[in-house]
Amino acid sequence: MPRTPGAPDPDTLVWFQNRFVRLAEANVNILTHALHYGTGVFDGIRGYFEPEQQELFLVRAIEHYERWKQNCGILRIRVGPSVHQLAAITADLCLRNGFRSNVYVRPIAYKSSARIGVHADDNDAYAIIALPFGHYFGEKNGLKAGVVSWRRVEDNAIPGRAKICGAYVNSVLATDEARRNGYDEAIFLTESGHVAEGATCNLFIVRSGRLITPPPTDNILEGITRASVMDLTRTALGIDVIERSIDRSELYVCEEAFFTGTAAEIAPIVEIDHRPVGSGAVGLITQKISSLYTDATRGHIPAYRTWLWPVHGSAIIEKTA
Ligand SMILES: Cc1ncc(COP(=O)(O)O)c(C=O)c1O
Repeated sequence: MPRTPGAPDPDTLVWFQNRFVRLAEANVNILTHALHYGTGVFDGIRGYFEPEQQELFLVRAIEHYERWKQNCGILRIRVGPSVHQLAAITADLCLRNGFRSNVYVRPIAYKSSARIGVHADDNDAYAIIALPFGHYFGEKNGLKAGVVSWRRVEDNAIPGRAKICGAYVNSVLATDEARRNGYDEAIFLTESGHVAEGATCNLFIVRSGRLITPPPTDNILEGITRASVMDLTRTALGIDVIERSIDRSELYVCEEAFFTGTAAEIAPIVEIDHRPVGSGAVGLITQKISSLYTDATRGHIPAYRTWLWPVHGSAIIEKTA
């Protein structure tokens, strides 16, 4: 069968059923519960390859695995290994694949029974896939974003704080609408009309020189990049960050705006709903945060070295901790 354009190399090794197998062999039964009912929880971790240091740094792998395991608990999916064991498996996976480029790691845990019936049992499985990965939004210098007609999933319907497979229908519909309307990314409102986040990323705005981002109670995914940005902004830039609900019209009067996410990284927004954000160019605070984030995730800031899990030399973590 011919390969779909952009499809990963079928010989890539993945962690599946507790062993390393070729991607082409890591397949599930057509009756798998998660395929029919969306009962999976995934995560996404970036690895940045630093040619000068000949090192591949997994970014905040421990925090990602902690969130993943916690969120699996929402669906009562059990993942056996500890977060440190999962990070070690991921590092081993990257080494075995001989990656010398930036990578994206996709852990996924799911209800694995192969039968008809919604009720969930205790048959759980998980896999870890790592693939070479570039920029999610391309090399664009500033995105056009648009508020979509779909509303963000409510916590008491499908909890948006967890990366639950079924909940991503919400993001797929939003992205489809946004792209068809000429935008690069969607902006979700909550049912009560407050700004929630992008389809695949969290959102920050700048007003009066201060950073504002919606709180977790506005149905956002509790992003690790969001937390990193809040830390860097407060500690390294000394800029205030406020978590509060954001009105839609604030998007039209803010000075700067940007998305954050593991895949999205720090993605400046220059236009929202056909209105320029600030001057219509990438803002100064956004630029500073973006360059700090790049330095921190490539191992260039000693204070943030503990965020990184070096694939080739885990010993560095102990030295700098
Ligand atoms: C809906 C949504 N919001 C926010 C994020 C950003 O989260 P993180 O920074 O942990 O990658 C993601 C990432 O995949 C996402 O899917």
